Amino acid sequence: MNDVSKITPAQGKLGILLVGLGAVSTTFIAGVHAVRRGLAAPIGSLTQMGTVRLGKRTDDRSPLIKDFVPLASLDDLVFGAWDIFEDDCYEAARTAGVIGADMLGQLKDELSAIKPWPAVFDRRYVKRLDGPNLKEGPTKRHLAEQVRADIQQFKQANSVDRLVMVWCGSTEVFMTAGDAHASLAAFERALDENDPSVPSSMVYAYAALKEGIPFANAAPNLTVDTSAMLELAAETGSPLAGKDLKTGQTLIKTIVAPGLKARLLGVSGWYSTNILGNRDGEVLDDPESFKTKEESKKSVLDYIFQPKLYPSLYDDLCHVVRINYYPPRGDNKEGWDNVDLFGWLGYPMQLKINFLCRDSVLAAPIVLDVALFLDLAQRAGMSGTQEWLSFYFKSPMHAPEVYPEHDLFIQLMKLKNTLRYLRGEELITHLGLEYYD
Ligand SMILES: NC(=O)c1ccc[n+]([C@@H]2O[C@H](COP(=O)([O-])OP(=O)(O)OC[C@H]3O[C@@H](n4cnc5c(N)ncnc54)[C@H](O)[C@@H]3O)[C@@H](O)[C@H]2O)c1
Repeated sequence: MNDVSKITPAQGKLGILLVGLGAVSTTFIAGVHAVRRGLAAPIGSLTQMGTVRLGKRTDDRSPLIKDFVPLASLDDLVFGAWDIFEDDCYEAARTAGVIGADMLGQLKDELSAIKPWPAVFDRRYVKRLDGPNLKEGPTKRHLAEQVRADIQQFKQANSVDRLVMVWCGSTEVFMTAGDAHASLAAFERALDENDPSVPSSMVYAYAALKEGIPFANAAPNLTVDTSAMLELAAETGSPLAGKDLKTGQTLIKTIVAPGLKARLLGVSGWYSTNILGNRDGEVLDDPESFKTKEESKKSVLDYIFQPKLYPSLYDDLCHVVRINYYPPRGDNKEGWDNVDLFGWLGYPMQLKINFLCRDSVLAAPIVLDVALFLDLAQRAGMSGTQEWLSFYFKSPMHAPEVYPEHDLFIQLMKLKNTLRYLRGEELITHLGLEYYD
């Protein structure tokens, strides 16, 4: 059993550093302020509303997660951000158009006070964007030093005790790990040499990890999913989580697909398409950024269906994912899924799903949970990949020798068992024979 006393209490302020002050970040920050003021409820957040069952089903012990493990309180959160645009958080939230003008008006003072620091940005990695609020420096190492200086200044100015950084910036172009990412020494050389295989997101991540700050990646970019970053995280005791928040269509996919597989229903095709009109949609309209997203969205079914174990059911699955930029919808994404499945004796059936969701409304509580859990992980002495946070991601980071776990329900069980483990409680296996002895 874990030694419970080893978790350091969540005393003092927790600074949440957001790279990118767009739809997700502003909806998250405004939401936290709204909840603090009692204007709204933190719906969708496991850390704020979820419970965890302890002991037997007959024990009647199901505390709130936030009462069970020592998490930072919403009142102790302070926010800082970088963006390529100069708009403060209030203006950026208005541009994002997710939260209504009435509520934003009530939060104007808090939100206007959050002004983004100049960004590390290069159009080579996000082709559809350009903005004026940028850092300059002779090498990527110099830029990383500037990010570290922002962090240190923020920490001091706000008397912050601990920090977490979350990449909520735009999706960068597709990239696979290469020589520059193979070790920390190679990566630092690449920083000094302005190697093109170091995109902006890695400069921020490097700065955070050098400071010993936990880092989460809300987008599908490679960023911290490399040997170099794992080496640095181990050296500085920093927990990592990623990649790509599991919201909208992929969330539904990882709810439905495990159910079909559990009943051994075959699937011959899964066609997913979306229309999306926010800035994220505009960035994803570029084929190179879309490729990063597509890889992330497509991987889930392979792992859930396990075609190698069930070739007659899933071997020929045709999985297509499309995202179409359609400005009139703004952040209100619409997703359609058509699933061609087959049952007993091979008889075909179809399932249609039409999800009219709000992308950032689904993403904001995840940013909150991931930030609070990463801070908990660090106080519990855990560093490197936090696989128990797979629950929140489309492409969960995982140890090289295991495949990622995509089934939402296994992910939830893993998360709650990790919390039980951290508190020295018995893990729940759902065997349940003891009720029938
Ligand atoms: N909304 C969701 O449900 C969801 C789900 C999964 C992943 N994501 C990912 O999260 C990210 C944010 O989504 P969003 O809807 O807020 O997008 P957005 O376009 O509204 O916001 C992204 C912000 O990042 C800024 N930015 C880009 N590069 C930057 C850099 N190098 N440094 C600082 N700022 C930078 C942009 O200027 C923009 O303001 C995207 O990568 C998106 O794909 C979103």
